[in-house]
Amino acid sequence: MNILFVCLGNICRSPMAEFVMKDMVEKKGISDDFYIASAATSTEEIGNSVHPGTRRKLSEYGISVAGKTAVQLKRSDYEKYDYILGMDGYNMRNIRRMLPEDTGNKIHRLLDFSKNPRDIADPWYTGDFDTTYDDIYEGCEALLEKILKEGH
Ligand code: 4NP
Repeated sequence: MNILFVCLGNICRSPMAEFVMKDMVEKKGISDDFYIASAATSTEEIGNSVHPGTRRKLSEYGISVAGKTAVQLKRSDYEKYDYILGMDGYNMRNIRRMLPEDTGNKIHRLLDFSKNPRDIADPWYTGDFDTTYDDIYEGCEALLEKILKEGH
């Protein structure tokens, strides 16, 4: 199962989702069945390391983001991944514009799998990485539950 998380810059939300999801599958002992990554819709932060807010929040849970630098979403990612997950409505519009038509129903907003579908809180202007983490944890848990229910 190949999963790609996508946000605007690939330094705050989507790397947080990438490493939360990696930690979740590792704790379940099923990490060999997954390839998990993240990417940006914009070129703004390409090559930059993960934002200190995301880094600090994940370190509270013993999760490292070492080695991750921002990369941009590319057209060929559509074939490579089974799930391509945007963080908010703006990401969704950009993802759909950048990728081929979603004939495989692969493109979703992360929290559309939760009981309370909504955008992931954006920490860029608020500096609030706690709410972002809670949203991302909820989304990843719901996504993993769906994947496991489908028998992958
Ligand atoms: P992210 O946060 O999309 O969650 O990585 C942002 C990163 C960069 C910008 C905005 C949001 N930016 O405007 O460059």
